Amino acid sequence: MAVDVDIDIRLLKSEIKKTYASVSLEPEKDFIFPTGRAWAEDLGYPPELASVPDSAVESFAGVANPFSLGRLDEGERVLDLGSGAGTDSLVAAQMVGAAGRVVGIDMTEEMLARARAAAATMGVPNVEFVEGEAERLPFADGSFDVVISNGVIDLVPDKEAVFSELHRVLAPGGRIQLADVTIQQPVSEEGRRKIDLWTG
Ligand SMILES: C[S@@+](CC[C@H](N)C(=O)[O-])C[C@H]1O[C@@H](n2cnc3c(N)ncnc32)[C@H](O)[C@@H]1O
Repeated sequence: MAVDVDIDIRLLKSEIKKTYASVSLEPEKDFIFPTGRAWAEDLGYPPELASVPDSAVESFAGVANPFSLGRLDEGERVLDLGSGAGTDSLVAAQMVGAAGRVVGIDMTEEMLARARAAAATMGVPNVEFVEGEAERLPFADGSFDVVISNGVIDLVPDKEAVFSELHRVLAPGGRIQLADVTIQQPVSEEGRRKIDLWTG
């Protein structure tokens, strides 16, 4: 659904970037949402988590476990939408192996820097991290077999644009393994205008 309340999208994005830059730069801080390895373990992450460097996992800020919907297959081409510090991409890279490929995309530079450094530490050649926005993906049609995403689409006001892009970049028969926040009750207009409620 496109945003039907008057919010300043530029301001919203800059506040979201500030929040997640801080998760990258100051992972030891207390945030209003859980972060870090103990949280990922509580979520039942697969054994591949153990090989992902602390430098990525300490800034893990997912809301659930997209791999609980199924493991990825060897050779698959994976898009990690809103890859943050790279935990899910680096788990996925191990599942798809050398014949597969993982691309993480995120709009926050500080998160991308942490993810790239962790991939280098881990020495995985089949992952790359790209700067970009979920609403305008810089990929050709049909580029991926599976999209994973964790705690990202809830942050994007124009969900229609995101799902239309996911549909475009997935190959026929592709799938989406989403971990995200949903709400049971409509949010008031006043609530939707509160930037703080979006960023967490
Ligand atoms: C809650 S964090 C989750 C990060 C990662 N998926 C994880 O599980 O640790 C949300 C991430 O989404 C990114 N993000 C938010 N809105 C975005 C958008 N419109 N386009 C691309 N990235 C976005 C933020 O920069 C942040 O890194």
